[in-house]
Amino acid sequence: LASLAQLDHAVPAPNRTQDRSKPAAAAPNQRFANTPDTDPALPANRAWGRAILDRVPGSTAGDVIVEASKVHDSLELERIITATVEAGEKWGAMPAAERAAILHRAGDVLESRRAELLEVMASETGKTIEQGDPEVSEAIDFAHFYAERAKDLETVDGATFVPAKLTVVTPPWNFPVAIPAGSTLAALAAGSGVVIKPAKQARRSGSVMVEALWEAGVPREVLALVQLEERELGTQLVSHPSVDRVILTGGYETAELFRSFRQDLPLLAETSGKNAIIVTPHADLDLAAKDVVNSAFGHAGQKCSAASLVILVGSVATSARFHNQLIDATRSLKVGYPEQATTQMGPIIEPANGKLLNALTTLGEGETWAVKPEKLDETGRLWSPGIRHGVKRGSYFHLTEFFGPVLGVMTAATLEEAIAIQNEIEYGLTAGLHSLDSAEMGVWLDTIQAGNLYVNRGITGAIVQRQPFGGWKKSAVGAGTKAGGPNYLVGLGSWLPGEPGA
Ligand code: ALA
Repeated sequence: LASLAQLDHAVPAPNRTQDRSKPAAAAPNQRFANTPDTDPALPANRAWGRAILDRVPGSTAGDVIVEASKVHDSLELERIITATVEAGEKWGAMPAAERAAILHRAGDVLESRRAELLEVMASETGKTIEQGDPEVSEAIDFAHFYAERAKDLETVDGATFVPAKLTVVTPPWNFPVAIPAGSTLAALAAGSGVVIKPAKQARRSGSVMVEALWEAGVPREVLALVQLEERELGTQLVSHPSVDRVILTGGYETAELFRSFRQDLPLLAETSGKNAIIVTPHADLDLAAKDVVNSAFGHAGQKCSAASLVILVGSVATSARFHNQLIDATRSLKVGYPEQATTQMGPIIEPANGKLLNALTTLGEGETWAVKPEKLDETGRLWSPGIRHGVKRGSYFHLTEFFGPVLGVMTAATLEEAIAIQNEIEYGLTAGLHSLDSAEMGVWLDTIQAGNLYVNRGITGAIVQRQPFGGWKKSAVGAGTKAGGPNYLVGLGSWLPGEPGA
C-alpha cells in the first residue's frame, strides 16, 4: 500500500497569486500539489470577493437541484438504491486510471465553481469567505489526491481490491463542501457507487458540490443525490442491506443511532470532539494567544476540530500579559453576517439552544466570565465569543462538547497534569501543544490521546496529504483511517486473495 514516503513531495509550490477573476488554469493532473487558497492581497481577488458577498442576500444557488433531488417515499428510495448498486458495479469495474481522470476533472470543475460554492456556503450556513475559501481548496485537493491514490488500489502483493458497490455518505453542515466532497470522492475513487444525503441545514452547498462532480463526468446513476423528506427514509437508507459502507461525519450519538439500525453496519465515522490546547511556560505566548483564538472562534467554534479548552501550565496560568492578549484578541473579533466584508466571526447555524445556549449563558461552580458572550440580535444566531475562567477538572464544561463560540480556561501545575486533564475527555479528535521545548514536545506526543496532533500552530484546518485527518477514542467509530491520507481508500472495499479474474 502507499505510504507517505512514496508520495512525491518535490512538486513546485503553486502560484499563490492567481487572479480569481480570470479562468483558473487546469491543475497538473498526474502529481499532487495542494491547491492554493485565494490571496486577498490581490486587488482583483478583493473585488471578486466583494461580488460574491453582494450575491449572498437572497441567493438561490442550488435551489433547482435541491428540488429535483427530493425523495418523498420508500419506493422511490428503493429504486435509487438498486440503480446505484448496479451502476456502482460498472464504475468499479472501470480501470482505476479512467476513474482517476474523471476525478481530476472534478477537481478542475470545483475550482471553476469556487465563487458559487463560497456564495452558497455563506448564504446557507453563514460561513465567511475567509473560512470558506480553504474549504473549497480542500475539496479540490481531495479530488486530485484520491484520483492518484485510486491507482494504488489495483493488485497489491497478490491480493485484489474489490470496491464497495454502494457507499452512503451522510456529511455534516459545518464543512458543507469539503466533507461531503472528501467522502464522496474517496468512495468514487475506490470504485463504489454513492448515495449522498447532504445535511438538512446545508442542502444547497452539498448539492452544488455534487453538480460539479456530475459536470466533470461522474455519471448521475453512480452518484445519486437525495434529500430525504421523511426521517424514516434516513433509517431505510442507512440500514439497507445493499449498503456496503456508510461514511458519517457527525456527532457520536448519530453513529450510535446508525449502529442501532443495523448491528453489522460497516461504518466509517468521524464523530465528536472536545479539544484542548496546552500552553506551557516554554511557549511563544504571542503565537499561542493567536492560535488559541483562531482555533476557538473560527467559524464561530463550530468545527469538530475547534479548541474548546486552553490548559495553562505553571506560570502561564498567572501571566497577566497572556490573559490580556487572549481577552483583547477575543473582544476585537468582528462578529457579523458573512455578507459584511469586515466580518471575522459569523453566526451560529441556528438559534442557540440546549447545551450550547447553556454554555453561552450559564457558569459552573467557581467559574467566571473573562469575556461574557452577548446575544447580538433577535435571530439568536449572532453571539459574541466568550471566555470562561476557572473551569474545574471533571466539571461539565471540561468534559462536554458544545460546538460554539465559547472557550474554557483551565490550569495545571505541570505538563503531565495538563495532559491528564486532556486525556480524561472521552473524545480524542485534535489536540494542541504550545511549547518550544523539545523534551516537552516528546512527552506530549508520546502520551496525548488524540488523532490529530498540532505543535505550535492552531488545531483546525487539516491539509490533504500533509495532515491526514481522523480521530481516536469516541471521536471515531468503525474502521476508519485518516481522510486525506494514503490509506483512506483501503477501507472502502475488501481484499481478496489472488489476481483479478483468477
Ligand atoms: N478537517 C477539519 C479541520 O481540520 C475538521 O479543521
